[in-house]
Amino acid sequence: MSMVSLMKLLSLFLLVVLLTPPPAVQGQLKIGFYNKTCSTAESLVQQTVASAFANNSGVAAGLIRLFFHDCFVRGCDGSVLIDSTANNTAEKDAPPNNPSLHGFEVIDAAKSAVEAKCPNTVSCADIIAFAARDSSALTGNISYQIPSGRRDGNISLSSEASANLPSPLSNASTLIKAFAAKNLTVDELVTLSGAHSIGVSHCSSFRNRIYNFSSTSQVDPTLSAAYATLLRLACPFNTSQSGNTTVALDLITPSALDNAYYKGVQLTLGLFTSDQALLTQANLSTAVNDNANNASGWATKFGRAMVQMGTTEVKTGTQGEIRKNCRVVNSANLGSIIGVDVKEEEEDESLMASM
Ligand code: HEM
Ligand SMILES: *[C@@H]1O[C@H](CO)[C@@H](O)[C@H](O)[C@H]1NC(C)=O
Ligand SMILES: *[C@@H]1O[C@H](CO)[C@@H](O)[C@H](O)[C@H]1NC(C)=O
Ligand SMILES: *[C@@H]1O[C@H](CO)[C@@H](O)[C@H](O)[C@H]1NC(C)=O
Ligand SMILES: *[C@@H]1O[C@H](CO)[C@@H](O)[C@H](O)[C@H]1NC(C)=O
Ligand SMILES: *[C@@H]1O[C@H](CO)[C@@H](O)[C@H](O)[C@H]1NC(C)=O
Ligand SMILES: *[C@@H]1O[C@H](CO)[C@@H](O)[C@H](O)[C@H]1NC(C)=O
Ligand SMILES: *[C@@H]1O[C@H](CO)[C@@H](O)[C@H](O)[C@H]1NC(C)=O
Ligand SMILES: *[C@@H]1O[C@H](CO)[C@@H](O)[C@H](O)[C@H]1NC(C)=O
Ligand SMILES: *[C@@H]1O[C@H](CO)[C@@H](O)[C@H](O)[C@H]1NC(C)=O
Ligand SMILES: *[C@@H]1O[C@H](CO)[C@@H](O)[C@H](O)[C@H]1NC(C)=O
Ligand SMILES: *[C@@H]1O[C@H](CO)[C@@H](O)[C@H](O)[C@H]1NC(C)=O
Ligand SMILES: *[C@@H]1O[C@H](CO)[C@@H](O)[C@H](O)[C@H]1NC(C)=O
Repeated sequence: MSMVSLMKLLSLFLLVVLLTPPPAVQGQLKIGFYNKTCSTAESLVQQTVASAFANNSGVAAGLIRLFFHDCFVRGCDGSVLIDSTANNTAEKDAPPNNPSLHGFEVIDAAKSAVEAKCPNTVSCADIIAFAARDSSALTGNISYQIPSGRRDGNISLSSEASANLPSPLSNASTLIKAFAAKNLTVDELVTLSGAHSIGVSHCSSFRNRIYNFSSTSQVDPTLSAAYATLLRLACPFNTSQSGNTTVALDLITPSALDNAYYKGVQLTLGLFTSDQALLTQANLSTAVNDNANNASGWATKFGRAMVQMGTTEVKTGTQGEIRKNCRVVNSANLGSIIGVDVKEEEEDESLMASM
């Protein structure tokens, strides 16, 4: 083959490579990943979430927050569900999660339902993503399809939760940085913050704004004074009287997942420093105003941003594992089974010895 025809072949090859479309944005995650392997997976999760919600509507907010806290720490790999062990303090016991994060029993119930139908098939990470989607439908009539195929991680470190989850004391630039670190845009930051239109907060998360705020002001001047008075009534100065008290995040429509959160922020009713911070930079406040004026536009963007957040550092294919029990990594699980066997043998022996 001549040099010229070799070059022609090479350039043709390059052309084909360059014209091949890039892989879909969602990487290897697929809508309907369990169509063939566990066709009832998504409906089993939906039914579990719906019945938990019928018993206690507060679980929906817990599940949406669980998805955020899973994805921001080591990616959406179910690591937030792993229990601490004698030698490891897990994510769920880090201060941003304990005692406020909840909904774990709902994930356990969904996992049991799914395991009964299709053992070792559906990841805990996907169950969280489905449960957050179902919670959005139940609280906001917001429907979106969530690509799946995530695999579970086997590492969960308290220190990583503290390092990756933004604090409610964050200013705008810190929030932008925390989201950019997960490849989420300024617009997605504002859109996802709309999740604060449902659910509750402990007094400790906004105490900084209502007592001893600064040397010149007891109360944060960017917080509505009337609202601050209400919050002080709910959360007494003496912390031992307000440790377990919770207040709604959205004063306007506390249990509807909707754009009223943004109207609240416009009226200085944002509960956290981080909520009100969305008005402190032009590129954020523009998005706050757009969302406040466009209920259905925000709802659409919220679904898309949840899908996007759900792609963060996912494990797919043969990476990671499908955890059997969402609270325990499989290798440790195996260890405990062996442990039980050994113990039973010992008991048998001691029984024999006493006979
Ligand atoms: C922008 C940065 C964010 C900060 C600083 C933040 C911080 C917080 C804090 C401090 C609480 C209250 C915890 C407590 O004291 O009980 C909370 C609750 C909540 N957050 Fe966020 N959050 C942020 C973003 C998000 C995102 C992106 C989502 C989901 C898409 C989300 C969903 C929720 C929900 C639903 C609740 C209520 C939970 C419940 O009722 O149990 N948050 N957040
Ligand atoms: C699963 O089924 C749905 C609905 O028929 C379809 O939209 C989706 O593409 C399918 N996904 C896969 C991975 O087969
Ligand atoms: C119902 O909700 C309560 C909390 O409101 C909880 O303690 C209880 O375990 C739930 N029951 C079921 C069956 O989910
Ligand atoms: C929920 O949204 C759908 C469209 O997505 C709409 O047809 C339906 O009427 C809405 N339901 C309620 C109760 O608002
Ligand atoms: C935002 O907070 C960070 C961390 O506390 C701080 O370093 C930075 O100076 C703050 N930025 C502004 C504009 O206040
Ligand atoms: C963000 O995107 C870059 C480039 O695609 C990628 O290397 C990085 O892993 C992504 N980070 C996260 C947290 O998804
Ligand atoms: C307020 O904070 C200052 C220092 O920032 C402290 O000296 C003072 O004791 C605090 N007052 C109250 C009532 O907590
Ligand atoms: C704070 O409240 C606890 C429990 O009600 C009470 O025992 C304690 O005396 C109070 N402390 C102050 C300084 O008022
Ligand atoms: C807060 O809740 C915990 C656990 O449920 C309980 O042990 C504690 O007594 C409660 N504290 C107050 C002040 O009610
Ligand atoms: C948002 O605005 C701030 C300053 O106003 C700027 O530092 C930051 O880069 C902007 N971010 C984006 C994504 O435009
Ligand atoms: C509402 O938001 C959607 C989606 O972002 C957009 O297409 C639409 O033009 C917006 N409508 C108005 C009135 O701003
Ligand atoms: C975690 O998984 C990796 C690979 O998937 C494996 O090499 C490692 O031994 C596992 N660690 C534990 C504690 O299970
Ligand atoms: C920590 O404990 C788990 C079981 O709980 C075990 O699998 C793991 O090897 C231990 N790791 C270290 C570093 O001791």
